[in-house]
Amino acid sequence: MSILVRPAYEDDLRDIMQIYNLAVLETTGIWNDAMTDMEERHAWWLKRVAAGYPVFVADVDGEIGGYGVYDRFRPYDGFSRTVEHALYTNPRYQRRGVASAILEALIAKAQEDGYHVMLGGIAAENEPSLALHSKFGFIETGRLPQVGHKFGRWHDLVFMQKMLSEA
Ligand SMILES: CC(C)(COP(=O)(O)OP(=O)(O)OC[C@H]1O[C@@H](n2cnc3c(N)ncnc32)[C@H](O)[C@@H]1OP(=O)(O)O)[C@@H](O)C(=O)NCCC(=O)NCCS
Repeated sequence: MSILVRPAYEDDLRDIMQIYNLAVLETTGIWNDAMTDMEERHAWWLKRVAAGYPVFVADVDGEIGGYGVYDRFRPYDGFSRTVEHALYTNPRYQRRGVASAILEALIAKAQEDGYHVMLGGIAAENEPSLALHSKFGFIETGRLPQVGHKFGRWHDLVFMQKMLSEA
């Protein structure tokens, strides 16, 4: 199996939409109840690309195995060197290194672009994602009890962050 992480093209948006919608329906990886559509995904992609933020996909033998993004953590000047990322994989390819390849590419891009901190907000029950991030040197720096609600219950949010630069 070969995994190539590259910027997303417009033609990838349908696969990205399907991966997103599956995560909405079946996981606590996204705390949304509403699914997305092509019009919204197109606007989402254009906005990120225009702002210079990456939208990466993992091309797995010609199929989209997952995608990852980051953008500024909060929209104030003081946060200009802190990014928050997110990544989702196609369940067909889970535990085969797809998320690892995407996360590695996001970290490299953020370092290249001079960001100082990368962080992700993860549901406290999402053991796979917590383990993935630990493996890449992220450490837990915050735990917010019951800030989210999905599937009829409250969820705690864990922030995990990685320092990207010395200065
Ligand atoms: C979490 C997720 C992104 C992992 O994707 P993946 O492609 O399966 O991950 P990888 O194959 O690259 O695995 C890398 C590491 O993650 C951890 N991991 C992945 N799946 C795991 C699982 N089911 N149980 C425990 N650890 C797991 C392991 O540390 C693994 O390393 P190892 O295989 O050497 O032990 C994927 O399960 C997913 O998309 N889940 C739904 C959406 C989501 O939760 N996104 C993250 C939001 S914060």
